Order: sequence, then structure tokens, then C-alpha cells
Amino acid sequence: CILIVDFGSQVTQLIARRVREAGVYSEIAPFNAADAAFDRLKPKGIILSGGPASVTTEGSPRAPQRLFEAGIPVLGICYGQQTMAMQLGGKVITSTTGGEFGRAFIEVKKRSSLFDGLWREGERHQVWMSHGDKVDALPPGFEPVAVSEGAPYAVTADEARRFYGVQFHPEVVHTPDGGRLIATFARHVCGLAGDWTMAEFREAKIAEIRAQVGSSRVICGLSGGVDSAVAAVLIHEAIGDQLTCVFVDHGLMRSGEADQVVGLFREHYKIPLVHVNAETLFMSGLKGVTDPEAKRKFIGKTFIEVFEAEAKKIGGAEFLAQGTLYPDVIESVSFTGGPSVTIKSHHNVGGLPERMNMKLVEPLRELFKDEVRVLGRELGLPDMFVGRHPFPGPGLAIRIPGEVTKERCDILRKADAIYLEEIRAAGLYDAIWQAFAVLLPVRTVGVMGDHRTYDSVCALRAVTSTDGMTADIYPFDAGFLSRVATRIVNEVEGINRVTYDYTSKPPGTIEWE
Ligand code: XMP
Repeated sequence: CILIVDFGSQVTQLIARRVREAGVYSEIAPFNAADAAFDRLKPKGIILSGGPASVTTEGSPRAPQRLFEAGIPVLGICYGQQTMAMQLGGKVITSTTGGEFGRAFIEVKKRSSLFDGLWREGERHQVWMSHGDKVDALPPGFEPVAVSEGAPYAVTADEARRFYGVQFHPEVVHTPDGGRLIATFARHVCGLAGDWTMAEFREAKIAEIRAQVGSSRVICGLSGGVDSAVAAVLIHEAIGDQLTCVFVDHGLMRSGEADQVVGLFREHYKIPLVHVNAETLFMSGLKGVTDPEAKRKFIGKTFIEVFEAEAKKIGGAEFLAQGTLYPDVIESVSFTGGPSVTIKSHHNVGGLPERMNMKLVEPLRELFKDEVRVLGRELGLPDMFVGRHPFPGPGLAIRIPGEVTKERCDILRKADAIYLEEIRAAGLYDAIWQAFAVLLPVRTVGVMGDHRTYDSVCALRAVTSTDGMTADIYPFDAGFLSRVATRIVNEVEGINRVTYDYTSKPPGTIEWE
């Protein structure tokens, strides 16, 4: 596999994706844990990520020196290139001309193994640059193989040691050949086969789960979402009825969703499932709560308490299964120790294991969301279920700004169901990353028949995204929106006005709370 050493770039995960798209397994380790990851994974190649720091600053992050002494290929990207240059005896300066940001062109000056089958001498290629510093003097053994206007060392290589440095970001889509460049590094330079598939992952995980769990009992909390469902089905395949699933139904799910989960598990997969209907408990606790973070806190805490009580009733389970994904694992690592701002606290990550003092089974820890979907299909989960839009742990509670009541949940459920039904009917569901309705705590005047109405406003949201980190609005045509608005106002009592949210992320977030 390939080990990616993370220096805190916003796009490090994309490197891992590009490597996996090349059919090569990869894992990310923060720079200060790279030593241990290196021992564990025994990688056949290293990629050093970009990062926000400047290598010219004292105390800025470095790669473990031994990575350069292991006799395996290294690809340094941006900050990774710079720290590699510095650590091997070169020089890096802070660019006086202000650096390069955005689209740039490089010119290939020399043949390099990194370009084999892809780029040739004399060609110009578009790349995406984002750097203030640049390499000023190369370490011994290195030579420039491509240049850009602002960086004479846009790509450098030490072919003998198979060390490569690129000043640009090959992992982003704005470097059109970037994916192929990373694939060339992984397969051609590192000599990896490129045969990593989800079927193989499934088999390997099943063996791993059996080895980890032995004859112990496992409980798994189902959220109704794709991740916990895929984790549960995979674990059930590995250990059968040593697994019990607990579905804490907080009453904040979308229309028909709870029944769907129960049906799927009990009837289709015949997996033992405890369905806890805790709607009343959640609703009474949410009374008077209007602050978004207070809602999240209450829901997270109560969810854990209910789950814990059920687990006690079941008794004897040594392991707790969770559908933790790769982004959850790496996002929770702090790189530079600098201030990081909490925009929203996502309650479904963490919390439970500490409290319950159980060992964890997290078979999806290495996967990205879309990979989990592929695995879900591989395991026979219905397309409808696997392809569902993401849904937040606190559910409808954060789509009802202001106080959450059962009555308002019911109103929102109806509007949301109409909206999604129309999206599916128009064949747009899969083109949208996430679509939902929000019930606003605002009442407006309307007229229906000869009557004055004074009811709530419903806002519709639909975004495209690849990872939820950034998002753009989905540009519905006006006919579609007016059809949905008409249906909602006509069919849902309590709503008399519908608006469409035209805000991208940033500056907006996807959810309204
Ligand atoms: P935001 O609103 O932060 O949403 O732009 C990004 C993605 O995260 C989901 N989200 C949550 N998921 N618990 C979750 O499990 C939460 O508290 C939470 N808040 C937002 C949101 O639906 C979107 O997919």
C-alpha cells in the first residue's frame, strides 16, 4: 500500500482517493504519527501532502527522516516537496513575488519515470498551484524535470532514489492529468499491482472481524443511515447472530424511514434487531430548546443513554460496532495544534465508546462514503437504500429552527416527502448530493380560497457536493420548483409559503442549523 503523510492540507483526503482510484490501497497518517503507521503498514511508497505551514518557520512539521532511508519511492506535494527538499539538504524560500495561486502551466523539460506513458518532453500541461514558498536550491541528486512561470522547480526528481517533488496539487480536479500522475506514481514507480477492489476488501474485513471478535457478542447501533447499516450487514456476514442491532428511533427520522430500516433488517437480512421507540422521550426533552448546539447536545446525550440502557438489557456484549468512516477518523486529528473552529458539533462521532467501556469494531474506518456505497451494493443492500442522500444524526431537529415539537416534525415530514418524491420523479435524485425541506419558525399571511391563512414558511434546499465540505446549489428549473411549491402548500396543512435556498457553502452551511 501507499502511506500518505499528512501535513494538514485541506485536500489530503483527495490524495488517498486518487491512489485508491488507481486500484492501490492507501492510508493517511498525520506527520507526527507517521512513524508508527510506517511500521504497521510497511508501505511500498510514500506521499507527503501539502499543508498550511511554511517550512521556513521554526518548528514547522517534518516527515520522519527514516522515510527517506527506507529505499522506497517518495512523492512530495507542495509543502511535502518543500519539506523533502529541506530535509535532504536543499533550500526553500518564501517567494518574494507572492507565490502562485490557481491555474498555472508547467512545461516538461526532461523525461522522468513519474511522467512515463503520460507526459513528454516539451509538452505544456495545466496544473493547480497554491503556494507561497518555493524550493530555491535542490538537494544533492535532484534535478528539475518540469518548470512553471513562477517555479523553476515545479517538478523535481531524483530518479536513482525514486524521489519526486511537485509544487502543484495533482490530487485536485483542476489538475486534469493529476489522477493519472498519482496512478503512475503508485503503479509504475512504486510497482504496486492496482488490483485492490471492494470484493477483496469485503473478504479481508470478514476475516479480520472474525479474528477480532472470536466468539464474543457484538452490538451495533443503527442510525437509519447507510454507514451503520453497511457495517451491520458486513459484521453479520462475518459472525452471524453473535451480532445484535439496536435501532434507537428518536422520532426525528424522515417519512417512512424507521419502518424501512426495521423491515430491511428483520425481514430481509434476518438480523436480530431491537427497535426502541423513544420518540416521547426525545420530544419532551426538546421542549423549549431552540439553540442548535443545545439540540445536538441533548440528542447526542439521550441517544447514548437509551442505547446504553438497551445494551445492558441485552447483556454480555464485549464489542460495540460503529459505522465510523475514514473522514471521521482523519478529521478528528489536529495537525498544527493551532486554533480550529467548531462550526457545528457532529454528535454521531465519538461519545459512545468512552462511556460504555467496550471494545470497538469499526469495519468501515478506512473507507470513504462512496466506497461504503459500493460495499453496500456488494453486500446486496437495495440501491434505493444505499444511494440515499446523507442524513444528519440529529435528524429533523436541526431542520426545524426554533422549538421542535412532534406536530412540527409531522408537518416537515410531509413537505420533505413531497419534495423528494418530485425529485425522484424528475430523475434528479442521483444528480443531487443532498436535498431536504426546512420548516421555518416564521409565519406569513396567505390566501386560500376566500380565507386568510397565517402559516409557516418552508424552505427547500438542494446541493451538489462531493464530500459535504463545500457545496453548490442545485439549479432546478422554475417549473420544477413551482410544481413542488404548489403541491406543498396545497397538501400540507400548516405551510402556506415555500422558498428556495440559493446559498452555496461556504458561506452558508448545508443544514440551516
Ligand atoms: P453542514 O450543515 O455542516 O453539513 O454544511 C455538512 C454535512 O454534515 C451533515 N450534518 C450532520 N451530520 N450530525 C451528523 O451526523 C450532525 O450534527 C450534522 N450536522 C450536519 C449535513 O447533513 C451535511 O451532509
